[in-house]
Amino acid sequence: MSSRRNFIRRASAAAVTAWLASQWSRSAATDIVHPPVTDGDIVLSTWPAGIAANARAMQILKEKGRVVDAVQEGVMVTESDRTSTSVGLSGFPDRDGHVTLDACIMDEEGNAGSVTFLEGIEHPVAVARLVMDRTPHVMLSGDGAQQFALENGFSLKKGMSEQARAAWEKWKSETGYKPVINKDNHDTIGMIARTAEGKFAGACTTSGTAFKYHGRVGDSPIIGAGLFVDPMVGAATATGLGEAILRICGTHSIVEMMRQGLTPQQACVEAIKRITFRQKNVQDLQVAFLAINRNGDIGAFSLQKGFQYALAKEGRNELIDAPALFQGEKK
Ligand code: GLY
Repeated sequence: MSSRRNFIRRASAAAVTAWLASQWSRSAATDIVHPPVTDGDIVLSTWPAGIAANARAMQILKEKGRVVDAVQEGVMVTESDRTSTSVGLSGFPDRDGHVTLDACIMDEEGNAGSVTFLEGIEHPVAVARLVMDRTPHVMLSGDGAQQFALENGFSLKKGMSEQARAAWEKWKSETGYKPVINKDNHDTIGMIARTAEGKFAGACTTSGTAFKYHGRVGDSPIIGAGLFVDPMVGAATATGLGEAILRICGTHSIVEMMRQGLTPQQACVEAIKRITFRQKNVQDLQVAFLAINRNGDIGAFSLQKGFQYALAKEGRNELIDAPALFQGEKK
């Protein structure tokens, strides 16, 4: 009896292994089968700053660079934009006057790297890339992330622009030093790309919500919240109030919904609806998602009207108004 049970167990295990092998059709992490696709390269990213970022990413792809290099270099354009108040070192500080940066990146094999709560480094996404490529880890945080960056050739830069300092001083005088949910300062850049060969990558980088508690980390550096890439399914990225995105593991949920057969648009809509079930005061905050699947179908949807994304494909790079759940003007 027991040998019969053992035989059945062994046979079941073998069947499961064979089934998994047939599902994944891959022999190693570096040997992922990318299904053929018909369109050319596609890059999409959040907000108007995505236009310049997309242009840089498309340039890399045109020069036959890796898609992960394209998304990294793309969002680095925004990280260096001194007019940005929510990405890079010119971003607004936390309530204690520290500019703390969060970023992550995923490559065409689904590898991931991330940094959180990083100060004084111009390109957190480049540090996240090194975490992915050169360490056994996925995420480094705070002083440790900064130490790793300095050990790898990055230099310390000034952490608060004059514009950000003025805004911080004004905020302190007006709010009595209490952090508030800020509705109008969430223009994180999230970028996702799919090449003509069907390879995906994504990157996401932010200084986080303005005047946050010191130590607060949002969705942007969290794999599955601000960004998720599945080499066999597609990619998604997020912008907006990180706490709302974290509560539903936003981008991972979207990619899983696409795996189950939803289009990217249906998946983005579903994720936004899920936020309305889980989050209080949804009229007072903004969240938006972008997604892309293997066919090159695109999803873009936001909670409030007003979210724009940049789409680069077929020689064009355009800013597009995304549909929203609440059609009234964002308060
Ligand atoms: N989505 C950016 C943040 O909440 O930090």
